[in-house]
Amino acid sequence: MPRLTLCHERRTTNDAMIKSPRGTRDLLPPDTALWNFVEAAVRDVFRAYNFHEIRTPIFESTELFARGVGEETDIVGKEMFTWEDGERFEDKKLFDTWSKENEDRVFFQEGNPFNSGIKPLGIQRQIWRKATNSVEFVCFRPKISWDVIDALVKARNIARTQYSQEYVNLPIHLRLVVPDMAVKNSPWVKTEDVEVEGFPGNYFSSSQSLTLRPENTAGVVRAYIEHKLWDRGLNKLFYIGPQFRRERPQKGRYRQFYQIGAEVIGPAAAGSQSPARDAEILELLATLLDRVGIANWTLELNSVGCLADRAKFNEALRQALAPVVEKMCADCQRRYVTNPLRIFDCKVPEDQPIIKTLPTINQFLDEDCRTHYEEVKKVLNAVQIPYVENPRLVRGLDYYQKTAFEFTHGALGAQNAILGGGRYDGLSEALGGPAAPGIGFAIGEDRLVLSLSATASAESVVRKPDVYIAPLGDGMNREAARVARELRRHDLVVDLGDESFRLKKSFETAVKIGALYILIVGGNEVAADAFALKHLASGEQVTVPRADLAERILRK
Ligand code: HAM
Repeated sequence: MPRLTLCHERRTTNDAMIKSPRGTRDLLPPDTALWNFVEAAVRDVFRAYNFHEIRTPIFESTELFARGVGEETDIVGKEMFTWEDGERFEDKKLFDTWSKENEDRVFFQEGNPFNSGIKPLGIQRQIWRKATNSVEFVCFRPKISWDVIDALVKARNIARTQYSQEYVNLPIHLRLVVPDMAVKNSPWVKTEDVEVEGFPGNYFSSSQSLTLRPENTAGVVRAYIEHKLWDRGLNKLFYIGPQFRRERPQKGRYRQFYQIGAEVIGPAAAGSQSPARDAEILELLATLLDRVGIANWTLELNSVGCLADRAKFNEALRQALAPVVEKMCADCQRRYVTNPLRIFDCKVPEDQPIIKTLPTINQFLDEDCRTHYEEVKKVLNAVQIPYVENPRLVRGLDYYQKTAFEFTHGALGAQNAILGGGRYDGLSEALGGPAAPGIGFAIGEDRLVLSLSATASAESVVRKPDVYIAPLGDGMNREAARVARELRRHDLVVDLGDESFRLKKSFETAVKIGALYILIVGGNEVAADAFALKHLASGEQVTVPRADLAERILRK
């Protein structure tokens, strides 16, 4: 059996700085102002198109994504943060199974220092091992924890120091038995004092597999089905929130990233299947990007056909690939068997010359898909939304049918897709719901903000304080608080100093935070009920009665 030695230093205080996990980042002021600016603008646009917000959980059952997004996609196959969520640890079951396999060990309770000296650790037993004439303290837990290890060590000390003489001379072994999945690769872990034994089997009742959402369309469609949203006709829903994919981090690609997305879904009778919905979504996106100030985007458009078209396409791909597939990467060789369409997701440079020669889906569209696609383009032309047709655009998720699109932006470099989306008729049925054609998109908010920061600075959208109040002298904090409260009622941005600050420090702070005015609140001012107000840029200073302050500051 492989053994691993853990040293006790692991639990001593560790001074090393704790950083955010790989691929995640903190969004800090003033950058968060850009994020808020974007979110406020998109909320306005969604309102104009009669979209309403939906908030779904950030984790869902793993099966939702396997069935919705597709087992063969990179997202489901490689990138999900998934865990088993065991609800209750059945220590009795572990104890019974372990005991059956360890019949040579005799349990005894009499005068047991283990049970009396420390707080209960779930099931804990003292064992007499005849063969080695030794004693063993064993406990049965769901996972390794330093608390239990410490408690076992403590129990042995108690036995040796507070119990009968026989314990002093007896070897006392310490053992922690946990389910083997808690010890991962090695079923045995030797700490300095305690032997940790991973025991095979599942000792959790009703465990289920959960996943941090890698995208939100599947979650929205799940909610549509769960809450029977078809009763409301056509649903126009939007969301803003974090998504999680275990990708290799780089500029514009993170493990926790944010999406602003929207879905239009409902019964066909409510118009959800119409190409007009596709065009409306694309026109909304053009409006939205214009509104937040992103120019120079390119809309890439394609139709990925319906299931029957894709079956024909996959067959054609297999034929084209048969003579060359052996030269391709292992992933492509697997995709060749399971779902050749996914070969278009391949990023391996050596495979690209082969991929360039493959047939494209547009040659396989049936009449219905072709007409739908043509109609989408006609409406786009009518509303003057420019697009580029890209017959190789297949998107990395399996639920798409008919229209598929991406908006790209030059400022983003390698990760240039600012957003992606398409039609997913059939997804509701795949998730056990009624027929509910739908179309939607998700904008990568991180990327949106990145492209925006090429032209707009966070500083330019931050609302700076209108006034900085400098309390001057003892007891002035409370007077300053009163003035601040009055001014904030007039929707002014007010920041406050402290009565312990010298005037010079207050002035420096006011300039540093970019306040427009500084207002002095000292004993004389309070007595006169009129305050010195100085415009920091011009240096102009006036004395303003309390009642006129807000109006004077609002005049700017
Ligand atoms: P997606 O193309 O996988 O589509 O993601 C949409 C956008 O999310 C991408 O264009 C990109 O801007 C951003 N994104 C994806 N992964 C990352 C990452 N690791 N770091 C930063 N940004 C990222 C979907 O998620 C579909 N649910 C869109 C949709 C909605 N289709 C229909 N309705």
